[in-house]
Amino acid sequence: MSTIETSHHVPAQDIPLTGRAVIKSMEAYRALVEEAAQDHEAFWARLAREHLSWRRPFTQILDDQNAPFYKWFEDGELNASYNCLDRNLTSGNANKTAIIFESDDGRVSSVTYQALYHRVCRLANALRARGVKKGDRVVIYLPMSVEGVVAMQACARIGAPHCVVFGGFSAKSLHERITNVGAVAIITADEQVRGGKTLPLKSIVDEALAMGGTDAVKTVVIYRRTGGRIPWIGGRDAWLHELEHAQPDTCEPEWVSAEHPLFVLYTSGSTGAPKGVQHSTGGYLLWAAVTMKWTFDIKPDDVFWCTADIGWITGHTYICYGPTAVGATQVIFEGVPTYPNAGRFWDMIQRHKVTIFYTAPTAIRSLIKSADADRAVHPGSYDLSTLRILGTVGEPINPSAWTWYAEHVGGGKCPVLDTFWQTETGGHMITPLPGVTPLVPGSCTLPLPGIDAAIVDETGQEVPNGHGGVLVIRKPWPSMIRTVWGNPERFRKGYYPDELGGNLYLAGDGAIRDPDTGYFTITGRVDDVLNVSGHRMGTMEIESALAACPLVAEAAVVGRPDETFGEAIVAFVVLKGERPSGADVKRVADELRAWVGKEIGPIAKPKEIRFGDAMPKTRSGKVVRRLLRSVAKGEPISQDTSTVENPAVIAQFADPA
Ligand code: WTA
Repeated sequence: MSTIETSHHVPAQDIPLTGRAVIKSMEAYRALVEEAAQDHEAFWARLAREHLSWRRPFTQILDDQNAPFYKWFEDGELNASYNCLDRNLTSGNANKTAIIFESDDGRVSSVTYQALYHRVCRLANALRARGVKKGDRVVIYLPMSVEGVVAMQACARIGAPHCVVFGGFSAKSLHERITNVGAVAIITADEQVRGGKTLPLKSIVDEALAMGGTDAVKTVVIYRRTGGRIPWIGGRDAWLHELEHAQPDTCEPEWVSAEHPLFVLYTSGSTGAPKGVQHSTGGYLLWAAVTMKWTFDIKPDDVFWCTADIGWITGHTYICYGPTAVGATQVIFEGVPTYPNAGRFWDMIQRHKVTIFYTAPTAIRSLIKSADADRAVHPGSYDLSTLRILGTVGEPINPSAWTWYAEHVGGGKCPVLDTFWQTETGGHMITPLPGVTPLVPGSCTLPLPGIDAAIVDETGQEVPNGHGGVLVIRKPWPSMIRTVWGNPERFRKGYYPDELGGNLYLAGDGAIRDPDTGYFTITGRVDDVLNVSGHRMGTMEIESALAACPLVAEAAVVGRPDETFGEAIVAFVVLKGERPSGADVKRVADELRAWVGKEIGPIAKPKEIRFGDAMPKTRSGKVVRRLLRSVAKGEPISQDTSTVENPAVIAQFADPA
């Protein structure tokens, strides 16, 4: 990191271990770990009874008959929205603020649990009235909004699995998801507003639906965010506010089996198209609630703020479901951290008196840069004294960013929780506990009780501490992925690979444990998945997008470490025509970038595109990615290139001029 550190006077060991959290001490943590080790099933059954409200209690705990297609609490019946809303009405939270919403332009509104409940019930009734029933899939393509939570909870209420698509994805990506999941309805907005700019949503939905294969979609519900002009298809399209208005404000929940799919969320893998990660109702919700308590130590007076988008798993678990399941007050923010200036987060923490703040390392790193450049947007210029817990997620956090966060945002008194988890795990897996786990910058420390994490070699044998390997989870846990939507083989082969013996969940990350403490440090993906600003992107997806461009003969995509964004996308391209030179290099590169933006979405646009006459390949025709990664980093090519069929092209790629 080239960021200038102002000081380092907050070593991690000075952050007080207060012992005031839900789990009070290392002894209490170890006791829970021991309880789970003694009887894994009984441990999870106890939590499921304590933390969830069941319509019909479960009698089965874990069913591993058809492993790795594990089932948890299958004969139990419940409803996720009942657990997140109705429960709060009877427990004294009816008039408590559920959501403080701040729009891009700074307008603040709030909604109580009672009001949220009625909004969810009205939309749930409206969806039912439009024929959406248990098991039908609903695609949600919304900006950050109260309506986003209402939409997700309304689907949960009627047992219709939702599939949220991040608002930054293109019509093509949206279409791919609508058809793959087989949606019958879509909930969107007219437009979205981010950083002072208005961007379309409804017209993108129309574009996606015009691509074909979407006849099952009978309803498009539109939240009026801006009032901008949008195309309209009578009979199919309906305003959210009009639908809500026409419906009663209570709605009998659909009681479903704990194994009923709550949602499908698409994420990138190393091969093929994005995969629909399918989560369950009971097991998933259990972990969302429990980790709100264990990791975030949520208390009645807390103001919780998770800055993730509802289009990602973090927004599912730690905005839509976790905070509501435990009756918390949370902040939801429509905009971006740099608008109107890079002090927005700190200003919002100050104004809303946020006590628990959860964000991504990328955001922290970019705000460090801004704060260094301008004292006015430095966290030190705001009153952040209400904060008591800080968290990060999405990518490894480098120790210098960790330390800055602890010192300048946390004032040296807040634990920084580096939470490791994935779309597939549903909730936190490896994380410090606040006020309990001695912290080490850059380490996610220890697995949560009940999570049997280990590091193994390529044959599945555990490696000694101090030796790197791949991270696996040995025992099933309730909030785990159930399958890849419509592709069970991809689930089994990808997550329980035969090479590791077929009984270990493979996370896809490299990791190492400290020889003294046993702490885990995640070293990054071991597959062809990039992590750009905490967003998962498969190199293959970007390659296919580029290859689909009529100008392109061949493309290879690799990641290059990036100081701010974690990784940057670098594309190596061979055109069908001549290799561009001079001013054409930039022109063609811009054209290709725009193409990728259209194919996938702006987040997938390569930061850099380099051109050559041919792709460097081995004699057997494999692209030498290892070499391309070095070239992308600007490293001198010291590696052996004797196996490369056409070493001359490496120089072309290495010297983009
Ligand atoms: C990475 C996000 C290091 C990791 C919840 C993982 C992390 C992928 C951390 C999942 C962390 C997430 N330290 N790496 N604390 N948290 N990752 O599915 O590579 O969007 O496999 O879920 O992000 O990304 P996903």
